[in-house]
This record gives sequence, C-alpha cells and structure tokens, in this order.
Amino acid sequence: MASGQLSRAEALACTACMHACHVMLYSDTKTQLFGKFPIRHIILMQMRFDGLLGFPGGLVNPSKETLEAGLSRELLEELGVALPVSVEDHVGSCHAPDSSSSSSSSSSSSSSRLITHFYVKKMEEEQIREVERAAASTATDHGHEVLGMVRVPLYTLRGGKGLGSFLSHAFIGNARSQLVDSLLRLNLVAPEELHKALTSSLTTHT
Ligand code: GTP
Ligand code: MN
Ligand code: MN
Ligand code: MN
Ligand code: MN
Ligand code: MN
Repeated sequence: MASGQLSRAEALACTACMHACHVMLYSDTKTQLFGKFPIRHIILMQMRFDGLLGFPGGLVNPSKETLEAGLSRELLEELGVALPVSVEDHVGSCHAPDSSSSSSSSSSSSSSRLITHFYVKKMEEEQIREVERAAASTATDHGHEVLGMVRVPLYTLRGGKGLGSFLSHAFIGNARSQLVDSLLRLNLVAPEELHKALTSSLTTHT
C-alpha cells in the first residue's frame, strides 16, 4: 500500500490541496460475544450522513490550524469530546482516490485535490465507552452529519459473517484500506483470519 503515500511534510507542502484528517480510535477489551467469541479490540467507525462508513475526523485548514488541532476540533464536533491527537499518532497521508463523483457540494472541484491524513490512537476501554456515550448525546453533529458510531466486529463466524460481512459494506474514500492496513500493522487480527475475511467480503452476505 506504500504507493501514493506522502510524508506529513510532503503532504503539507501542497498548499493548493484540501486536507482532511481522520483517526482510528481503539482499545483492548476482554469482553466476549455470547460469552464465547473474544471481541479482543473495540475499534470505532461511524455511519456517515451519506450512508457510507468512515472514521471520525474531517476537513482541516492547515493555514489556520495544525493538522492535529483541526482533527481534534472535528472530534469535538463529531464525538462530543475534544480528544488530543499528537504528531506521533500520524500513520500516513495520501492523495484521495480521484474522481469521487458523488459529493453534493463539490462544485468547487476543478483543481483542488484532497489529501487525507490518517491517525491511530489507542485508548483505555473506559475512555472509548465514554466517547460512545458523548457521541450519542452531546456531539453537535449527532443525528445529521454523523448517524451513529459503530464498532468493528473482528471475529469470523460461520459463513464469513463478522469481519467479512462488515468489510462488504460501502466505505468513504480510502477508509476501508485504512482499516484493513491498521488491522494488519497493529496485529489486531491474525493475517490468515484477515485474509479469509477479505475473501468472504467479496461474496454476498444474506
Ligand atoms: P463537513 O463538516 O461537512 O465539511 O465534513 P467533514 O469536515 O467532517 O469532512 P469529512 O469527514 O466528510 O471528510 C472530508 C472528505 O474526506 C470526505 O469528503 C471524503 O472524501 C474523505 N473522507 C471522509 N472520511 C474518510 C475516512 O474515514 N477515510 C478517508 N481516507 N477519507 C475520508
Ligand atoms: Mn440478543
Ligand atoms: Mn465533521
Ligand atoms: Mn467528518
Ligand atoms: Mn468539517
Ligand atoms: Mn461539519
């Protein structure tokens, strides 16, 4: 996946670009599904207003705020908590896949390309639960820009249900590969289990 990756500095050098920052918040957990399947990690994603799954975060204006301060501002809007994000949490930047047709308001498209910056932040399980509570109550974007937070199922059940069926949903931009790359890099799912889930995500789930 290294192709198309930019360093933070290279990315920021593009002053004509638009910049967006998103973060994967996660924790360990000892909880089990049905008292049987280890859940292992809580990973937060969101159902967006457009029906697509993505990570919390949004557009940042590097001439007015640092990437991390802008991301923290978006987290306050979308999660109801101004979580601090640091430069050390940054894992990569790249140009967004071109020609993302849809997008209701992108009449200003012409030449301003979008660079997406991705962050990962590990938290305590209780902090993640607090974020979930705030996102559903005090977050100003709740119910319109953000329809709800969701946890990613990391286990595989019979017939590829679980992670496989989750990955078969529709994702915004690069969000699906940001998730899959992070699962591998942080070893949150065993490579062979992830491979099975990816394969079964290509088949339909009913
Ligand atoms: P507004 O407040 O309505 O401007 O939205 P926002 O600032 O929250 O922006 P948003 O989160 O929609 O992100 C801006 C753009 O980044 C989107 O139009 C997508 O193209 C892209 N994007 C959104 N979420 C993700 C994500 O999780 N991963 C990646 N790679 N790109 C994303
Ligand atoms: Mn039940
Ligand atoms: Mn936002
Ligand atoms: Mn957003
Ligand atoms: Mn915004
Ligand atoms: Mn907004």
